[in-house]
Amino acid sequence: MTEYRIAVLPGDGIGPEITEVATRVLRHVTTRHGGVALHLTAHDAGAGRWQREGVALTDETYDGCVRADAILMGAIGLPEARHPDGREVNGDVIFRLRFDLDLYAGIRPVRAWPGLASPLAAAPPVDYVVVRENVEGLYASRTGGCNVREEVATDTIVITATGTRKVTEQAFRLAAKRGGRPRDGRSMVTCVDKANVLSSYAFFRRVFDQVAAGHPGVASDHVYVDAMTAYQVQQPDMFDVVVAENMFGDIISDLAAATVGGLGLAASADVGDRHGLFQPAHGSAPTIAGKGVANPVATVLSAAMMLDWLADRHGDPAAAEAAGVIEGAVGDVLAAARVLTPDLGGAAGTDEVGEAIIAAADRRL
Ligand SMILES: NC(=O)c1ccc[n+]([C@@H]2O[C@H](COP(=O)([O-])OP(=O)(O)OC[C@H]3O[C@@H](n4cnc5c(N)ncnc54)[C@H](O)[C@@H]3O)[C@@H](O)[C@H]2O)c1
Repeated sequence: MTEYRIAVLPGDGIGPEITEVATRVLRHVTTRHGGVALHLTAHDAGAGRWQREGVALTDETYDGCVRADAILMGAIGLPEARHPDGREVNGDVIFRLRFDLDLYAGIRPVRAWPGLASPLAAAPPVDYVVVRENVEGLYASRTGGCNVREEVATDTIVITATGTRKVTEQAFRLAAKRGGRPRDGRSMVTCVDKANVLSSYAFFRRVFDQVAAGHPGVASDHVYVDAMTAYQVQQPDMFDVVVAENMFGDIISDLAAATVGGLGLAASADVGDRHGLFQPAHGSAPTIAGKGVANPVATVLSAAMMLDWLADRHGDPAAAEAAGVIEGAVGDVLAAARVLTPDLGGAAGTDEVGEAIIAAADRRL
């Protein structure tokens, strides 16, 4: 049996509630499956810790994340927890981990689940993955922008050939493993940029094209980010894998989530060559925190992505099986559409959804 050390950062707002459910599901499924052992160690990090102790991510917690085989996170940040320059302190955790562990690819699957009503009138099939460049782009300036006399503020976009190549390679590798786009089954990677206006994005596109030339088995195309937002609503079946600069990827992945039922379903993985951090794409939803109504599905699916990533990395079929059980169980619960949280039109609580996922997993084990 393979053993993995998981650093768990529940975080702020709804973070602890949804992380509790995800870890309960993980423990239950891996114990019953029997082929994977997880050692989960919780760490206190985030805006709450910063408010109490003045530090959002201690070196001890950071070292725990470095040593772990994977990191599972709830949500970090509270709108009122800000540095004097106005930036939220959640970047002290999320950006430090992403940048210092070189988690260069933000992988965000978007999928219309059978059983859930589509927010889009035409209810088109949706099944694509947004791959967001995670450590460069405009957010690379997060602590390096300039502010002159409170009159002029600037941030500089950073696009490197190496970074663009790495994230684009990741996108093509992912496309090669998937079944293609819903429209015609064609494997395709789409570069989302603003190459018509900024030379930085034109450069991103040139590097993308060089990488695409090395993957003749996967088609490629380009879409400007403004048009992208319309296609995501009107023709999402044209996408298989999408790759974008950091800020564009941040924005289009939230829109993508909204087209299939909302942020409560939006799983995500931040991965590099050595480390992986798994967290829902949403934030800490402070207005519903503590009410027991947060949707835990995105976090549970992120936990399944973690097992899948560990399976790939360690050649461990048992971890892939456990991931498949969790993903299948979530699909069963959503398809039955009886135990859903209010964001999906239901009346169930966070815990009830967790228990329904565990019961569905039991039927698959
Ligand atoms: N990776 C992260 O940890 C992360 C990401 C985004 C925002 N944040 C932080 O979270 C805080 C709140 O940010 P925000 O309000 O812009 O975004 P948010 O994602 O927390 O909330 C946006 C909307 O989605 C709803 N929502 C989000 N997750 C939900 C869930 N699981 N179930 C049901 N509804 C859900 C919220 O109630 C709200 O209406 C801020 O401090 C922000 O910086 C953290």
